[in-house]
Amino acid sequence: MSVLVLTQPQPPGPFLEAFARLAPHVKVHADLESAVAAADEVEAVLLWRLAPGVLAPFRRLRMLCASAAGVDKILSCPDLPPGLPVTRTVDAQQNLQIAQYVTLMVLRHVRSLPLFETQARARAWRRHPVPAPADLRVGLLGLGHSGLAVAQALLAQGFTVLGHSRSPRACPGVETFSGPEGLGRMLARSDVLVCLLPLTSETQGLLDARLFAQLPRGAFVVNVSRGALLVEPDLMAAIAGGQLAGAALDVQSREPLPADDPLWGEPRVLVTPHIASLPTPDTVVQQVLENLRRARSGQPLLRQVDLARGY
Ligand SMILES: NC(=O)c1ccc[n+]([C@@H]2O[C@H](COP(=O)([O-])OP(=O)(O)OC[C@H]3O[C@@H](n4cnc5c(N)ncnc54)[C@H](OP(=O)(O)O)[C@@H]3O)[C@@H](O)[C@H]2O)c1
Repeated sequence: MSVLVLTQPQPPGPFLEAFARLAPHVKVHADLESAVAAADEVEAVLLWRLAPGVLAPFRRLRMLCASAAGVDKILSCPDLPPGLPVTRTVDAQQNLQIAQYVTLMVLRHVRSLPLFETQARARAWRRHPVPAPADLRVGLLGLGHSGLAVAQALLAQGFTVLGHSRSPRACPGVETFSGPEGLGRMLARSDVLVCLLPLTSETQGLLDARLFAQLPRGAFVVNVSRGALLVEPDLMAAIAGGQLAGAALDVQSREPLPADDPLWGEPRVLVTPHIASLPTPDTVVQQVLENLRRARSGQPLLRQVDLARGY
């Protein structure tokens, strides 16, 4: 019995090394050709995205294991076999990295770091007001694993933290909202809006002109979920018109973002190349192995994606 590792564009090497170290008895295929040659032995595929046709030779698959927290690049595949379980990675270290990234971007914005860097290059020793932490209200879209880690990090900075999820959620220290009506109420009070949602048919294009208009004027946007949640031309227009002060975008609608994309040319937008967090290979592999054990013994899988909900 074997596992196929197809994590590109995530380099497969660290996952292969983790399998060799943690489970030397498990046969692992590092490429599609070798796996197809022994197709009936393949029980699981570890992957980031699923291309059409790839799974056709594998008739004994027990599950697909996403090497990331998001599964949109797997569920969007037109020939995903119906009923085949899909699991995802939930990695505490990765969620801490997302919390670091968001905290960095919120502090950079609220403490006017780009302004002070410009001043420093001009040798200008000039002060500007420093806002009281509690006066900054940060609204979180998504209160899942990453959202809760981000909430803790922002609360530790003394910010006022608000959070929205699909179903009602309690989170100590955070004022929480749910449903469409709750979303509007949170947006109206979010000086910074952080997107931590999965990409689904419901969330695609959610961050658009209509949503930006509900934020306080001069709000700042941080997107660490997926680029397709954000309508980039609407963001650029909202910044040009002053409705938004700017944005930090770890994810974009096209990755890698082409050099001629207008986002690069807007100084109030900081683009980073999808580096807010990276999964820990050992954690990913341990979670695959645990679910393989469970599948073989007929136990329910852990971190299984709800295919109807899309996350
Ligand atoms: N940039 C990076 O490096 C990076 C790294 C990791 C993850 N990500 C992205 O972050 C996403 C979230 O990860 P996670 O582990 O936090 O996911 P999660 O634990 O599944 O949490 C998702 C949250 O989003 C909420 N939600 C989903 N659909 C919604 C909707 N239509 N309206 C309102 N709320 C909705 C959920 O509400 P309920 O609580 O009601 O279910 C839940 O609170 C991933 O899917 C991935 O795309 C990015």
